Amino acid sequence: MIEKLDSLYKEFEEKITGLGNQADILNLKSEYLGKKGHISEVLKSLKNATNEERKLIGPKANEIKNEITNSVAKKLTFIETEEINKKLANEKIDITLTDAVRSNNNYSGGFHPRTLIQREIEDIFLSMGFDILDGPHIEDEFHNFEALNIPGDHPARDMQDTFWFHDPNVECDEKKHLLRTHTSTVQVHGMQARKPPFKFIAPGTVFRCERTDASHEMVFNQLEGMMVGENISVSHLIYFMKTILKEIFKKEVEVRLRPGFFPFVEPGFELDIKCLICSGKGCSVCKQVGWLELLPCGMVHPNVLKAGGIDPEKYNGFAFGLGLDRLVMMKYGIDDIRHLQSGDLRFNSQFRTF
Ligand code: PHE
Repeated sequence: MIEKLDSLYKEFEEKITGLGNQADILNLKSEYLGKKGHISEVLKSLKNATNEERKLIGPKANEIKNEITNSVAKKLTFIETEEINKKLANEKIDITLTDAVRSNNNYSGGFHPRTLIQREIEDIFLSMGFDILDGPHIEDEFHNFEALNIPGDHPARDMQDTFWFHDPNVECDEKKHLLRTHTSTVQVHGMQARKPPFKFIAPGTVFRCERTDASHEMVFNQLEGMMVGENISVSHLIYFMKTILKEIFKKEVEVRLRPGFFPFVEPGFELDIKCLICSGKGCSVCKQVGWLELLPCGMVHPNVLKAGGIDPEKYNGFAFGLGLDRLVMMKYGIDDIRHLQSGDLRFNSQFRTF
């Protein structure tokens, strides 16, 4: 009978090693230890055994019962731990991976070329002590025109085709609202909030009712700059403009200064750069001229200083309005401004990715 018990145990051990789920293991356990199980059957036959035999077989049967119970418990714990580990491995999230890598997509996103240029310019101006300002897209007539020396009847208003808001509740002209046509509005906000001397830049989106072509968009971006203090001169203006262009293009670029008219500067200039797309030969971006208007600028008109609460007898300054999109086009050799807003990933993914 001892041999029988031993072989039952051996058989049990062989069977349990092949099992992998809880239910099968519990069934196996009852097959051996249950009321009608193999071990119980052996014990039942003890009735007919001698006392000597019982002394031997009793403890042996108990030992085997314990072995089986332990072995079942061990196997159940093993399976449970294995299941937990499997679940943990499946649910593991690597927070260091980007979405794109996680989804096995090769394009992991990147910065729009305008963002790259804007950040570069902001860094350069920050290093020269300029503040960076922001302004509202929806403006009133005062900030977009009046304060910039462009009264209602001024012909210069025609230079900027404007998206107006029709507000039936507003009768007074000065309170009419519009989408800002230039970032020069921030000059006014900046002056009103500061005391000279000060200098700041203001990058931002502007809106004009334009017919779109390779170099015109209705929604585009400028970067305004203003410096006000005592004894500021045109040479300060030229110095800052040249420094910026040199830093951006990483080389001396050919520039020319022409007289330009903007009611808010006097004297006013147009700073052109030689078209880097066609090296001055003429192309659709420079309208076959070879030069590109990039940086309208000038000395702040006394009326503008006055509107900003600054004494023009004591202070003067310069202002400029960089065409940010055009600069991006020159820097990266992009021949159509419409690519910039296309949202086309084939375009966007050519620039620096994460
Ligand atoms: N605001 C002008 C424009 O959008 C540009 C400009 C800014 C000109 C500052 C002179 C000085 O055309």
